[in-house]
Amino acid sequence: MQFDFDKVVDRRGGDSIKWNLYGDGILPMWVADGDILSPPEVIEALTNRAQHGVFGYAGEPAELKTLLVERMQKLYNWKITPADIVYVPGVVTGFNIAARAAGKAGDGILVQTPNYPPILNAASNHDMVTQTAELKLVHNGNIINYEYDDAAFLGAIDERTKIFILCHPHNPTGRLMSRAELERMATVCVEKGIVICSDEIHCDLIMDGREHVPTAALSHEIAMNTITLMAPSKTFNIPGLGFSFAIIQNPELRRKYIKAQAGIVPHAGIFGYVGALAAYKHGDAWLQASNEYYAANRDFAIDYIKKYMPQLSITNPEATYLAWVDCSKAGIEGNPKEYFQKFGVALGDGKNFGAHTANFVRITMACPRKLLADGLDMMRQALEPLS
Ligand SMILES: Cc1ncc(COP(=O)(O)O)c(C=O)c1O
Repeated sequence: MQFDFDKVVDRRGGDSIKWNLYGDGILPMWVADGDILSPPEVIEALTNRAQHGVFGYAGEPAELKTLLVERMQKLYNWKITPADIVYVPGVVTGFNIAARAAGKAGDGILVQTPNYPPILNAASNHDMVTQTAELKLVHNGNIINYEYDDAAFLGAIDERTKIFILCHPHNPTGRLMSRAELERMATVCVEKGIVICSDEIHCDLIMDGREHVPTAALSHEIAMNTITLMAPSKTFNIPGLGFSFAIIQNPELRRKYIKAQAGIVPHAGIFGYVGALAAYKHGDAWLQASNEYYAANRDFAIDYIKKYMPQLSITNPEATYLAWVDCSKAGIEGNPKEYFQKFGVALGDGKNFGAHTANFVRITMACPRKLLADGLDMMRQALEPLS
């Protein structure tokens, strides 16, 4: 293999939140933060920039917006202009700015559950109201899937609803919403005057040759109603560099967005710009290879669960490097995340992802296969006394 994704890099004792939170003796598989080396060109560009030695205020690299415009055209046949792009340091920052730009205290933010916790919590940051539409859980043996539920979506909307934060591809389920599902959600929002903030941070982590469809690329009318958030962070495993971007084609919405962040939200830093530029310019072969590796990790985890832990149910993600696991038939008393942690593995805690999710755990599979296998072995050992 051209890239050695099997290489285990020691992150203990460094600056990693993922590895430091639970300390020695615990294998961390909770946060969506990968353990594989970033593309060599990214490492080289950052090293070269560090060696320059002077780190003054930095402007954006001249080529970056052009690269992003070309990327949207090439990947999605989506025509945007450099002026549509607004840099933000992170995607969580990005959807919180969207909340301020499109709503005010007392308004409603529509979200689907299960969901990435900071999306569920965004409304409370702005004294707004969280309005929840559950996705429909479908079982097929011990594979689970989640589908868009039109009645739940419509039922969650009322006159307060001003923003829909969509997570697409979806964390934690790994669903890649179909074009029909996206069109339905977006059409409802356009009709009801609800601004869509489409968190597409996982848009490059697509499995099995599938294609991501940006919500805003569906139609001009939908584009005019949408704030899209993307980033190289998950894609190239550089979340610590602090670089993301919003695409806002509606000039009035963009004006409000820029105003909502003015004076509060910092520009991207030097290393964010340098890393993003190198990644988008040179990282595509690495990206294809890492996606194949993640898909093989996913298949490994599903096979392992079918073989050794059939009392668990797992998603079969179409995108992301996340697996969402239902432990409700495993006989665990209390919180599954806490229980598994006693056996050495720290997983994402389902209870933070919405209603009816307390029996779930999330596994981050962006790691060398050896670490994934170790984590699954610990889960298996944890379940043995219960069977
Ligand atoms: C859907 C989603 N949005 C945003 C983020 C985090 O974005 P950032 O670190 O850029 O704020 C994550 C990280 O896991 C995520 O899964």
